Amino acid sequence: MSEKKRIPRHVAIIMDGNGRWAKLRGKERYEGHIEGVAAVRETVRAAVRNGIEYVTLYAFSTENWGRPADEVEALMSLFCKSVISETPELAAEGVRVRIIGHRSHFSTVVREHLDEIERRTAAGNKMTLVLAIDYSSREEITDAVRNIVVKAAQGAIRAEEITPDTISAELYTAAMPDPDLIIRTSGESRLSNFLLWQASYAEFYFPQILWPDWKESDFDKAIEIYASRERRYGLVKETGEQLPKAD
Ligand code: IPE
Ligand code: IPE
Ligand code: MG
Repeated sequence: MSEKKRIPRHVAIIMDGNGRWAKLRGKERYEGHIEGVAAVRETVRAAVRNGIEYVTLYAFSTENWGRPADEVEALMSLFCKSVISETPELAAEGVRVRIIGHRSHFSTVVREHLDEIERRTAAGNKMTLVLAIDYSSREEITDAVRNIVVKAAQGAIRAEEITPDTISAELYTAAMPDPDLIIRTSGESRLSNFLLWQASYAEFYFPQILWPDWKESDFDKAIEIYASRERRYGLVKETGEQLPKAD
């Protein structure tokens, strides 16, 4: 075995705890979201430094549309402002941004900002930053099934030809490796409709840190923890030890 530290290719993060961070300080929830942008910056810097190829950040779930209108409004405005403030550094660092989710639900203004960050960072070749916005894993899988059924009806694929790869190829994440490590901050330990299919063999890490407090060093620690994990994929560890012989 190589002594080289095992680095995940793809780290996915459920950025949770903004509201609690704000409430603990007697502030409005949206102030926690604003503070969370700094934690995104810390994450990108640490990920580029660690040589991570893909980082996916869960920024807004489809279920989050059900939050109070003023919070949703504040988040939409924050997405637009962040596109403007963060694009220059991302482009300079060689980070390519991709958006996954149901873009059709956004207002034209928000959609234009999201298109813009993708366009202006398209040449980035150091790391891909995927922002899951208006994302629902169940909807993503449902869309994939719908597409496959249409192809089958058109005679482009036969039922017996459908494999797990066929489904993976229809997901928003088609061109990416599955996440090796999924982090959820704030101490909650659930997926909340995030990358259900892609998470099949991911390692999980649930630090007790509210997202606005997340620093580069916390990302580094997550990478250390990942490196110490043993991934078995349902197989048996090869220890070189002999099993007792059967009589
Ligand atoms: C995560 O923080 C950000 C979004 C869901 C947009 P929360 O807003 O869920 O913060 P908590 O979980 O209420 O503290
Ligand atoms: C998941 O967090 C969505 C994001 C982090 C964007 P939530 O705070 O919305 O999830 P629940 O409600 O705790 O499951
Ligand atoms: Mg939350």
